[in-house]
Amino acid sequence: MYKCKGRIPELETGRLRLRKMRRRDAAQMFACWSDREVTRYMNLAPMIGATEAADMIGLLNQMAGEEDAIRWGIELKETGRLIGSCGFNTWQLEGAFRGEIGYELGRDYWRHGYMSEAFSVLLSFGYETMGLNRIEALVDPRNAPSGGFLENMGFTKEGLLRQIQHTSTGYKDMLMYSLLYDEWLRARNK
Ligand SMILES: CC(C)(COP(=O)(O)OP(=O)(O)OC[C@H]1O[C@@H](n2cnc3c(N)ncnc32)[C@H](O)[C@@H]1OP(=O)(O)O)[C@@H](O)C(=O)NCCC(=O)NCCS
Repeated sequence: MYKCKGRIPELETGRLRLRKMRRRDAAQMFACWSDREVTRYMNLAPMIGATEAADMIGLLNQMAGEEDAIRWGIELKETGRLIGSCGFNTWQLEGAFRGEIGYELGRDYWRHGYMSEAFSVLLSFGYETMGLNRIEALVDPRNAPSGGFLENMGFTKEGLLRQIQHTSTGYKDMLMYSLLYDEWLRARNK
């Protein structure tokens, strides 16, 4: 059974390094998490001060320690800059082998294929290291870029989960997307 125990291993692609975020990365992550365009459909109010980003990084690393979540910073190898983050917001092995992903990139980096590249190692990690069978994403129905991105990655839009979340603005419907291990394997071996 996979145990993360706070370890966030480095994962690498051609252009990206996925790595543990440190408090010293706060200014770069703040640029991403303070942008209203980025956070619009995330469960995150745009940040106002860089200390909020440092606290968020601390919280995410603490959650990894408690096996509640695992989140990588996405570093652009060419510049050494963190341009976003991704990971598993939650997972359940016993009785399900499923996990839910979360992801975001700074606005300047959209549409360059970066998140697709990050997903190539994130999904491998989920299926092969964590032992997941089903990877899910919950997406705000208005978030067309995220829906389009997931469909491009081979995810299936399963349906609308009514009032599945409660936020400061009330209950929210979310679309459920998923990709099964067999589907991922088939697409990879094509
Ligand atoms: C969703 C998001 C991560 C996509 O990242 P990205 O690096 O821009 O995506 P990619 O460049 O890898 O895109 C791959 C494919 O996804 C689809 N896609 C990406 N952005 C899209 C958009 N704005 N509209 C429609 N389809 C889109 C396209 O099919 C695209 O392929 P193409 O560029 O060849 O047409 C990015 O838009 C983002 O960070 N959004 C804000 C945060 C967010 O909403 N996170 C998800 C919360 S559920």
